[in-house]
Amino acid sequence: MPAERLPELGSLFSLAGRTALITGASGGIGAAAARVLAAAGARVILVARTLDRLDAQAAALGKAGAEALPLPADLGAQDGVDALVGALAAAGEAPDILVNSAGMIDRAPFDAVTPPRWDQVLGLNLTAPMFLTQALAPAMRARGWGRVVNIGSILALQGKKNAHSYTASKHAIAGLTRSMAAELGPHGVCVNALCPGYIRTEINTVLQEDPAFGAMIAARVPLGRWGETSDLSGPLLFLCSPAAAYLNGHMLVVDGGMTAVH
Ligand SMILES: NC(=O)c1ccc[n+]([C@@H]2O[C@H](COP(=O)([O-])OP(=O)(O)OC[C@H]3O[C@@H](n4cnc5c(N)ncnc54)[C@H](OP(=O)(O)O)[C@@H]3O)[C@@H](O)[C@H]2O)c1
Repeated sequence: MPAERLPELGSLFSLAGRTALITGASGGIGAAAARVLAAAGARVILVARTLDRLDAQAAALGKAGAEALPLPADLGAQDGVDALVGALAAAGEAPDILVNSAGMIDRAPFDAVTPPRWDQVLGLNLTAPMFLTQALAPAMRARGWGRVVNIGSILALQGKKNAHSYTASKHAIAGLTRSMAAELGPHGVCVNALCPGYIRTEINTVLQEDPAFGAMIAARVPLGRWGETSDLSGPLLFLCSPAAAYLNGHMLVVDGGMTAVH
C-alpha cells in the first residue's frame, strides 16, 4: 500500500505570488484583511479615501516584512472607481484578489430616509463593488484564477429598523455575489461574501457606546460578546486561499452564532 500523503497545510493557505486589493483598507475590517492576506504572503494594495491612514498602515506592514501599496480613492461615485482603475493600470497592477470592504451606513428611521443618502449608501456598498469587480475581473479571468470577497453583513440575511439603505445594499450584495459567481466561476474566479455580525469598528461606535445594545449582544450572541476584527482573519483568509478552491457564491456568516439561534 502506498504511503498516505497528508495535505500540506502551508500551501493550502499560502498567497505567495498573489496581489490582493482591499478597499476600505483604512477601516477596521479592511485593515485586518490586509494584515492577514499579507501574512499569507500576498502583496497588498490598500484603498480608501484617507491617504495618511493608508500610509501609516502600509508603513506598519512594511516594517513587518510585507509589501503594501497605498492607493487613495473615493469609491462613492463612478468617477472615483474609474480613477482607481486608471491608477492601477498606470502602475501595471492587476490584482489576483479583490476584497470589497469599503462601506457606510445611514442610521435613519424609515420616514427620514432621503434620496441623496440612499444613493450614497447604495453607491458605495453596492455600485462600487459591482464596477470595481467588473474592471478587475478580466485580468483574473485571463489568468484563470481569481478571488473576489464582498463584505456583506448579517443584514444581507435579515432586516433591521433604522438601517434601510444599508440592509438593502447588503441583501443586494448577496445577490450580486451569486450572480457574479455564476458568470466568473467558469473562468476560475470564485466570488464569495463574508457576512460579519457585530464587529467592534468605527462604523458602529454609537452602538458600542449604548449599554442596552451591549446587553442585547450578550443575550443574543451565543458566544456572548462582540466580534473583533481578528475574528474575521481566518474566515477571510480561507475565502481567498487555495483551500477554498471549490467555494463559489457562498455567504460565510461569522457572527458568533447570532443568526443561527432564535
Ligand atoms: N463592523 C461591523 O460590525 C460590520 C458588520 C457587518 C458588515 N460590515 C461591513 O464591513 C465593511 C467594513 O466596515 P468596517 O467595520 O471596517 O467599518 P470602518 O472601520 O468604518 O471602515 C470603513 C472603511 O470604508 C472606507 N470608506 C468609506 N467611505 C469611502 C469612500 N467613499 N471611498 C472609499 N472608501 C471609503 C473608510 O475609509 P475612508 O474613510 O478613509 O475612506 C474605511 O476604510 C463595510 O462594508 C461594512 O458594511 C461591518
